[in-house]
Amino acid sequence: MKVLVVGSGGREHTLCWKLAQSRKLDELYCAPGNAGIAGIAKCVPVSADNISELKALCKIEEIDLVVVGPEAPLVAGIVDRFQAEGLRVFGPLKDAAQLEGSKAFAKKFMAGNNIPTASFGIYQDHDKALSALGNYTFPLVIKASGLAAGKGVIICADRNEAETTLCEMMIDSRFGDAGASVVIEECLEGEEASILAITDGRDYVCLTPSQDHKRLLDGDEGPNTGGMGAYAPAPVITPDLQARIEEDILIPTLTGLEKRGSEYSGCLYIGLMITASGPKVLEYNCRFGDPETQAVLPMLKSDLLDLMVATTDGRLGDHQVEFHDGAAVTVVLASGGYPGSYEKGKPITGLDSVPEGVIVFHAGTAEKDNQIVTSGGRVLGVTAQSESLQNALDLAYSGIDAIEFEGKFFRKDIAQRAIARNG
Ligand code: AMP
Ligand code: GLY
Repeated sequence: MKVLVVGSGGREHTLCWKLAQSRKLDELYCAPGNAGIAGIAKCVPVSADNISELKALCKIEEIDLVVVGPEAPLVAGIVDRFQAEGLRVFGPLKDAAQLEGSKAFAKKFMAGNNIPTASFGIYQDHDKALSALGNYTFPLVIKASGLAAGKGVIICADRNEAETTLCEMMIDSRFGDAGASVVIEECLEGEEASILAITDGRDYVCLTPSQDHKRLLDGDEGPNTGGMGAYAPAPVITPDLQARIEEDILIPTLTGLEKRGSEYSGCLYIGLMITASGPKVLEYNCRFGDPETQAVLPMLKSDLLDLMVATTDGRLGDHQVEFHDGAAVTVVLASGGYPGSYEKGKPITGLDSVPEGVIVFHAGTAEKDNQIVTSGGRVLGVTAQSESLQNALDLAYSGIDAIEFEGKFFRKDIAQRAIARNG
């Protein structure tokens, strides 16, 4: 088969890495890809948002399967447009992708289907949002309803902060149209975890549960980032809890969408808070999570291409999937200054001298004058899979020691919560 992966980050490198192991793969393309992906796929310089050009590329190269990495093209309806051309695409249709594209839609959907989530209100009018603040206790959470590249969620400690946030989102349009509608919600307490479910709308396969590390600094301090590392499995998701999540959240989500006439096909990401009163949904994403995917796919033993084709064919029900024992961990190497401003173009050395067993997924790299250089805030996802989490961690951090670039920054405590829990 000829496969095209759309996107350019660590998630897409991981998807390419796993797809490249398939016996059924003949040719792998990635648009636009990055310097690491270029080692395993033919990178084509078409941006992930350019649906028309991507469609032309699929026709010219006779692509058999398109795998869409990022949310923006999914929310814009890439799957609808490609299916109309007879192309096979892994990902949800535009209507189902609203689960991520509109937080207001997702909250109303959850309320309508009795899916546990934080209590909330939705506001399009700034004055009404302001007067509603009196109905909540602090801290509370204010979210821009539309896509805001992971930056549209603000936890407000007091009324002052909430007023400023509402003004920035609804009056100053800090997130553009994404902030025209806001969700105000109860602040949940607990441990977070991510479930990635591959589904054809009726049947599903849950991949290994994982945990992201959103804060920049050790001990979950500092500003929020796109994710500084991940590991799988996340022991907070016990087998009992997994069953409860499937029963109370995943299945009602799939049947709720089916009732709308909008069966979900692709990877459904459920971001959860494990509260004292059980698991509650923080967010849905209509795609593989990043960096979680970098730790989750190395735990998958079965062929990913087979799994994706079974999904797009709607025959996941009789598809068997196997996983590796042990654990996988990804430690993100970031550029100094991230998530604020940072310099690009720093030469990266040591990529070829990481110990055996370490996989380096590229997130923000480019090739310049025959050298691999930094080109993003999150640069690399240094990953290892092993029979124990501690081994995987030791391996990943030894990979990190081997790699250098000016301003290299990383968290030193990835997965420590799991290590502490496991004793
Ligand atoms: P979201 O994009 O909705 O997942 O929000 C991003 C991050 O904000 C989550 O991963 C949580 O860390 C935090 N967050 C979102 N909603 C809540 C909430 N209701 N209570 C506490 N933290 C939240
Ligand atoms: N790790 C969270 C996300 O992919 O949005």
